[in-house]
Amino acid sequence: MTNFRPIVAVYPGSFDPITTGHEDVARRTLRFCDRLLIAVAESPTHSRRPFFSVAERLELTEQVFAGEPRVECVSFSGLLVEFASSVGARFIIRGLRAVSDFEYEFQMAQMNRELWEDVETIFLTPDEEHAFISATLVRQVASLGGDVSRFVSPPVLKRLKARFAAVESESDRRRHK
Ligand code: PNS
Repeated sequence: MTNFRPIVAVYPGSFDPITTGHEDVARRTLRFCDRLLIAVAESPTHSRRPFFSVAERLELTEQVFAGEPRVECVSFSGLLVEFASSVGARFIIRGLRAVSDFEYEFQMAQMNRELWEDVETIFLTPDEEHAFISATLVRQVASLGGDVSRFVSPPVLKRLKARFAAVESESDRRRHK
């Protein structure tokens, strides 16, 4: 009898919205883990209000990974390590795009280890074609009418367009009131 213990990892983030850079990191994780939980944080780190609600961020993430049976998308609130331990995941995946990401990521990894000594944070670098992509820049470019179709998957693109079209028509309505 074998003692097969599946490798379960959690890839947490704000995913506001999920980009092709995030997707790349998730797909790389599937090379060495059996099951991946993409964990959409209800409240993003930097106390700003998220652009998309947690329900929208989760829905988009689910749509992007619809064809991948080893990926499950969930939302979480509270401490990441508590969530990870509740789903039996000892590995936390984070993407490192540039040296500038390192300080914040290092602090988080250390803090998470303080909170739960058994957890390991694994850093993955995305393909260089994704290295400059961030959800913040995607939102900014999209809000100014720029083409972000290379940086997000079709469902996300559609949702961004719909959201900015709604914002535009609301400001038109106010201007003409
Ligand atoms: O995509 P982000 O915003 O960089 O993701 C950050 C996230 C959500 C992974 C981080 O803020 C987090 O883990 N939040 C949960 C709260 C928590 O556990 N904080 C202590 C970890 S240092």
